[in-house]
Amino acid sequence: MDVSKAIASRRSVRNFLDAPVSNEIIGKLLSQACRAPSGGNIQPWRVFILNGSSMTNFLRHIEEHSEPESPEYAIYPPSLKDPYRSSRYKCGEDMYALLDIAREDKVARYAHLDRNFIFFDAPAAIFIYVDRIMGPPQWSDLGMFLQNFMLLAKQEGLDTCAQESWASRPFTVASYINPPPELMLFCGCAIGYGNEEARVNQLVTEREPLENWATFL
Ligand SMILES: Cc1cc2nc3c(=O)[nH]c(=O)nc-3n(C[C@H](O)[C@H](O)[C@H](O)COP(=O)(O)O)c2cc1C
Repeated sequence: MDVSKAIASRRSVRNFLDAPVSNEIIGKLLSQACRAPSGGNIQPWRVFILNGSSMTNFLRHIEEHSEPESPEYAIYPPSLKDPYRSSRYKCGEDMYALLDIAREDKVARYAHLDRNFIFFDAPAAIFIYVDRIMGPPQWSDLGMFLQNFMLLAKQEGLDTCAQESWASRPFTVASYINPPPELMLFCGCAIGYGNEEARVNQLVTEREPLENWATFL
């Protein structure tokens, strides 16, 4: 699969088949993904993998610890302005339309959002952490690593969904993973074989046209 095809075919998948993914494959993808560039080659990503029994035990842990907690970082700016706000809104509305969930049906909307916290039934996942001393440049390096991982997964026939929603449960996640205290959670990423029958997986998000965000000087 060439890079263009991997980029064009990758989507965030939010419903997975009950089919396992081996640690060997995940290890291979991670080893390849770490060829991502990073400023000064400091390679700031720190990764924890859930699969098989560690996934089962983690999901039990999450179920048993539902206390509210504060995110370790602001996932979005406090008052997101346009055009970013509209873009975010449209993506959510398109997803709920596919799922036939009305705007006023808050229960169904929250239930769908809650599926984040079972990794959308994916059999495996990674958590990406970063040292607290790192700043925006190193966080952007994490994005390059994550994108490499998701494209390589696509090439392997696997699907993914990056999940910053886990940043709203940092202490519950940490109490299972037990990471060194200097690390903070950036995001999770569900991994598995996407269920093509699931309506939620039919979502194709839009992109702004080039002239809206690129300026040729
Ligand atoms: C860092 C990052 C975090 C994300 N977090 C979530 C999340 O918590 N839950 C979710 O359903 N999707 C999440 N997404 C997926 C985005 O909603 C998705 O990438 C965007 O809508 C574009 O759709 P596409 O990935 O299908 O192209 C995340 C994506 C990224 C890159």
